[in-house]
Amino acid sequence: MAVERTLSIIKPDAVQKNAVGAILGRFEAAGLRVVASKMLHLSQEDAGGFYAVHKARPFYGELCAFMSSGPVLVSALEGEGAILKNRDLMGATNPKDAAPGTIRADFADSIDANAVHGSDSAETAAWEISYFFSQREIFSR
Ligand code: PPS
Repeated sequence: MAVERTLSIIKPDAVQKNAVGAILGRFEAAGLRVVASKMLHLSQEDAGGFYAVHKARPFYGELCAFMSSGPVLVSALEGEGAILKNRDLMGATNPKDAAPGTIRADFADSIDANAVHGSDSAETAAWEISYFFSQREIFSR
């Protein structure tokens, strides 16, 4: 399987719950490596730009308000099949549908406060990583 990078965001609800270490530990236990990471408090504009692809969706305003409501941890994760592996670890978008043992089943409260974000394709991952990190902030093996 190819080595990939994916963008992970630990969202304001999970940071507030003091779950940053527990969530990063799940990535590492699954064989993913944190190759870049920083804590940020996104502005509405930062969140709006990141989620621009969802601009037409009814929850866009709510999503941007939530994502700028408190600090987040943004990370680039690297490993074999990293994009799908991260999505599997995260579980379904709505925690009510998330399989037991997934991050969202264990840490998310609702579809809007759902603990984590993960890139959904290689193309998206490249764009999302470059939204937050310069090349010199990424430390690959
Ligand atoms: S996904 O995970 O991208 O396949 O899901 P999608 O349904 O396309 O949702 C895109 C992002 O919007 C968030 N979302 C919502 N936020 C607030 N309210 C509602 N109802 C809602 N539905 C979906 C969802 O968590 C996705 O954000 P990220 O950060 O990518 O998880």
